[in-house]
Amino acid sequence: MTGRRPLIAGNWKMNLDHLQSIAFVQKLAWTLRDAKHDKGAVEVAVFPPFTDLRSVQTLVNSDELPIAYGGQDLSAFDSGAYTGEISGAFLHALDCRYVIIGHSERRQYHHETDETVATKVAAAFRHQLIPVVCVGETAEDLETHGASAIPVAQLREALAPVTRGSEVVVAYEPVWAIGSGQAATPAQAQQVCAALRAVVAEVLGEDAGAATRILYGGSVKAANIASFMREADIDGALVGGASLLLEEFASIAQYQKHVGI
Ligand code: PGA
Repeated sequence: MTGRRPLIAGNWKMNLDHLQSIAFVQKLAWTLRDAKHDKGAVEVAVFPPFTDLRSVQTLVNSDELPIAYGGQDLSAFDSGAYTGEISGAFLHALDCRYVIIGHSERRQYHHETDETVATKVAAAFRHQLIPVVCVGETAEDLETHGASAIPVAQLREALAPVTRGSEVVVAYEPVWAIGSGQAATPAQAQQVCAALRAVVAEVLGEDAGAATRILYGGSVKAANIASFMREADIDGALVGGASLLLEEFASIAQYQKHVGI
């Protein structure tokens, strides 16, 4: 990890309504403040459900909280007859900094393909959002192709619409590690993240390869975050289940204080 500001991102998935989101973000900010969290050293972001975003924006803006936020998905289209969809323009209007794209649950339950992911990445850029592009292999892929081949292919396709100079965050999330309690080993994750960084360098140039943050996700918790953050190509984490536990998530964000790092 050199010169890249680590990002600890909480993907709430379909949890916490707008009232709960206000209480959570407020308490998270207090906890980080009490721990003297240095936002310049580690960026903290949350990804609440769409219906929470306005509440989170109001709180973050009025109290100037050092917490970034974003949507969990966006539409490939900007506006029009797409019932149930949310435009990147709406996320931008709520001051979202990020948007998660291609999470494995979107790929699995909403049949999002690599092509869909690429069109959504393009939509994110049209609205000044930084895409957090998720890639990862299933247990079956792991057996058939090894760990890197599928995530590498997914990333190559996702980066197709990215022009040099645009910021993107990559999240490597092995599907078998998500919500399973069985995280990848730091060495496994490092190997894939290095391969993903090589793709970024190849497609977007060496500078982008060196500057792009690559996160690991899949059963991250306070007890294992430091071991991932010690790896050269891992610049943070996309946290699901543990991001809903206030103390646990704050402790993940404070990984530099953990023994041995
Ligand atoms: P998990 O989820 O931390 O609960 O494994 C990670 C994710 O889905 O982003």
